[in-house]
Amino acid sequence: MNPPTAAATADAYDAIAVVYAQLARPDLDTVALDRAVLAAFAEVARTTGPVAELGCGPGPVTAHLRDLGLDVFGVDLSPAMIALAREAYPDLRFEVGSMDALDLADASLGGIVSWYSVIHAAPPDLPAYLAEFRRVLAPGGHLLLAFFESEGEPVTPFDHKVITAYRWPVDHLAELARAAGFVEVGRMLREPGDGERFRRGHLLMRG
Ligand SMILES: C[S@@+](CC[C@H](N)C(=O)[O-])C[C@H]1O[C@@H](n2cnc3c(N)ncnc32)[C@H](O)[C@@H]1O
Repeated sequence: MNPPTAAATADAYDAIAVVYAQLARPDLDTVALDRAVLAAFAEVARTTGPVAELGCGPGPVTAHLRDLGLDVFGVDLSPAMIALAREAYPDLRFEVGSMDALDLADASLGGIVSWYSVIHAAPPDLPAYLAEFRRVLAPGGHLLLAFFESEGEPVTPFDHKVITAYRWPVDHLAELARAAGFVEVGRMLREPGDGERFRRGHLLMRG
């Protein structure tokens, strides 16, 4: 499996955007541990300034973070996803953009959520994504990463329904984040639920 390019990832998400938008919200509504992680992030990020959900898709996680009291906006590579997010949540700001080249000033964010959005990045490119997250995050701000965990294997590609994605060992991802200048606050692993294939990983890091 070749790593997907950014253009191929955007095209693939554009093509599936409407169906994806219909499925995304029920997922968040039914998984208590996912909501617990987002609630913990909201608690530490509530007083630190604007939060960006990077790779926000059609926006349900952005809206959930807003409902938790955060000043939040969304960024996504896929114009179709951003159009759907704007339609569904007209009170929120959504912008087309790429996580590895953000149109944001240094230290301008108080928090970042990447909820299954770095999963398609080619593994050698991940340090550049994390460096960009560190650049735009103010000192003391928090980063929450959600991803597919590799369950004892090294970084492993898999046939994600939209386009090739990667499962990461939680220790490896935490090490890359540390190398980019983050300090680990905590981690949460949960086993796959009904209809899910892989263990889920969550890392909370501080800039
Ligand atoms: C699995 S979806 C997750 C969407 C959303 N976070 C959610 O959980 O509902 C991954 C999203 O990341 C976006 N994405 C992938 N690579 C990106 C990049 N380099 N910059 C911005 N968004 C990206 C895709 O377009 C897609 O909408």
